[in-house]
Amino acid sequence: MTGTAALVLGIETSCDETAAAVVAGGVDVRSSVVSSQVDLHAAFGGVVPEIAGRAHLELLTPVVAEALGRAGLSGGADLAAVAATVGPGLIGSLLVGVSEAKALSLAWDLPFAGVNHLEGHLFAALLDHPGIGWPVAVLLVSGGHTLLVSMEGPGRYRLLGQTLDDAAGEAFDKVARFLGLGYPGGPAIEAAAAAGDPGAFAFPRAMLDDGLDFSFSGIKTAVVHAVRAAPDATDEDVAASFQQAVVDVLVAKTVRGALSSGAKGLCLAGGVAANEALRGALTATADELGLPVYLPSRAMCTDNAAMIAAAGWWQLEHVGPTPLDAGAHPDLRLPLLAADGAAAGGGPVARTGRARYR
Ligand code: KG4
Ligand code: ZN
Repeated sequence: MTGTAALVLGIETSCDETAAAVVAGGVDVRSSVVSSQVDLHAAFGGVVPEIAGRAHLELLTPVVAEALGRAGLSGGADLAAVAATVGPGLIGSLLVGVSEAKALSLAWDLPFAGVNHLEGHLFAALLDHPGIGWPVAVLLVSGGHTLLVSMEGPGRYRLLGQTLDDAAGEAFDKVARFLGLGYPGGPAIEAAAAAGDPGAFAFPRAMLDDGLDFSFSGIKTAVVHAVRAAPDATDEDVAASFQQAVVDVLVAKTVRGALSSGAKGLCLAGGVAANEALRGALTATADELGLPVYLPSRAMCTDNAAMIAAAGWWQLEHVGPTPLDAGAHPDLRLPLLAADGAAAGGGPVARTGRARYR
């Protein structure tokens, strides 16, 4: 590899989006194709792993061809590397992307980068804001994870807080399901909330004044009780009140984490970061504090392959390629700095191994 114009093909198949993208030099998105399987899973109210794996098998080759085509490429000749998500995620889905990426890297004689999906989300903001001043406090809120991280630069992460139970996106999905608003829950709640009163119900703000960890299992139960006690309540009011409670907690903890870690800015990542109420509230609070906010575009918050190509480019430049005998890791954790500031893992295998949070 490499250099600032090196073209990396990224592949993302960890959950229910089949995605491929071409990114130059880690920041310049030449193409980003996301084929959502939402319609296939909606009838079941959530992602069905077997269906996801099979759909990735069918969709990935055309999605990769589309990404190459939109970037003006017809094959691998002008690419510098192939990157793919190796975890965390659904094993059957991950293996489809990892196998395709390895096959392409062998066929085209290109280095392979196995990328941590969570680290990919952290790179999404860099695509739109390459000049970030470090460190930044990043709130990573997705369907499976809620992490508050001090990012000292690419590859340098300290954990500030995390959820003790459900992820923020999971709470959106469960409440939407209970209200019958459909799957995926986040966009459905956001749409309903737009016509509701966020003050209609005083849902609990768990651990609001207490530390940097989160808890979202109680609010789901509170919503169920509130709706049973007030059967005439509108979905819009319940959705707006629920969203407000979650946003209040997310913003309070992110700001607290930023202040306690000496952050020079704030950042959002992950699917829930597409939520306009969260984006607006965090921006307003940060403005009052005089801290810049780096928001990825909404398309870069939810799962996509451009963030994987960006993280893969950085990894290849600074860590090196991933051996082709490395596998997929459904429970992969974010690689964290050791207490002495040493980067987690000495090489690509360690980086794709199972580092522990604590
Ligand atoms: O990052 P992501 O696309 O996939 C995972 O890595 O999990 O995040 C998906 C999660 C789902 O829980 C979805 O309901 C939530 O992000 N989400 C949202 C919004 N868009 C997606 N939550 C709130 N508001 C949204 N607009
Ligand atoms: Zn994700």
